[in-house]
Amino acid sequence: MEMDPIVDQELIELDDSSTDELTNMEIDLLLEGLYRWYGFDFRQYVRASLRRRVLNRMRLDRIPTVTALLNLVLHEPGYVDRLLGDFSIKVTEMFRDPSFFRAFRYNVVPQLRHLSEIRIWHAGCATGEEVYSMAILLQEEGLADRTKLYATDMNEKAIEAAKRGAYPLKQMQTFTKNYLDSGGTNSFSEYYTTDHKQAYFDASLREHVMFAQHNLVTDGSFNEFHVILCRNVLIYFDAALQSQVHNLFHGSLSTGGFLGLGSKESILLLHHASVYEEFVPTERIYRKMR
Ligand SMILES: C[S@@+](CC[C@H](N)C(=O)[O-])C[C@H]1O[C@@H](n2cnc3c(N)ncnc32)[C@H](O)[C@@H]1O
Repeated sequence: MEMDPIVDQELIELDDSSTDELTNMEIDLLLEGLYRWYGFDFRQYVRASLRRRVLNRMRLDRIPTVTALLNLVLHEPGYVDRLLGDFSIKVTEMFRDPSFFRAFRYNVVPQLRHLSEIRIWHAGCATGEEVYSMAILLQEEGLADRTKLYATDMNEKAIEAAKRGAYPLKQMQTFTKNYLDSGGTNSFSEYYTTDHKQAYFDASLREHVMFAQHNLVTDGSFNEFHVILCRNVLIYFDAALQSQVHNLFHGSLSTGGFLGLGSKESILLLHHASVYEEFVPTERIYRKMR
């Protein structure tokens, strides 16, 4: 999986197959403990990816068993946040997959122009790059003033970073290229100011954005939206959990509304496929028909 930077090689020592079954059972108990004590439900996340993260945390903190890790999670104040940080994979970019934003600009935006108020939900927005990208696109298309953007993530620290809208200067080259490839019409540097380390995105871009912590697994619907973007999040969920979250999206999307997924995600295999039209199939943009 491209978003998974942890190198398996580092884990081989701990990943001894003779203890595989026991480790898996301990991971079950760890996830059960996280859920029952803290309310964070990772029980239906793709197991291989979680397992790598658990083993990596044990290696970094020199913890001999998953049970010892569970002990720390339950009894050492604040330790749980470390594990939650490990489970939240925040890799993102502005105008990530520029062709998605190009399709959004040229295919979806014309369908939204007649609305007096447009509500867009960025579910799993990580540190906000996707939201600022959308805010820029909508400003350029003259729709910003009548749009409300709802930016949510389960990770509170990521949401705090999203609110700041400050990103390392060294990323601006990639972001600028993505912006231009996505059909951006201005000079990208007009949207931020800099010091020697960071680029600070213009506060006007945040004017119509509401940032909030929201967990797709355990929290419900909170509005009706014309657009829901949930890109590169469902890839971490098993099929049953994907289906559950698609129920949430279907119930939260207005008829005729648009659902945008990540480049490796699809609803085609799920029973929800029949209620959506493939609006821009190559970019995983679907339209709710009923
Ligand atoms: C790889 S980032 C995707 C960011 C952005 N959507 C993009 O495509 O660039 C995945 C994000 O999903 C969030 N996430 C994972 N499980 C979640 C859940 N149950 N509810 C809400 N957000 C979740 C993670 O915290 C992380 O910030």
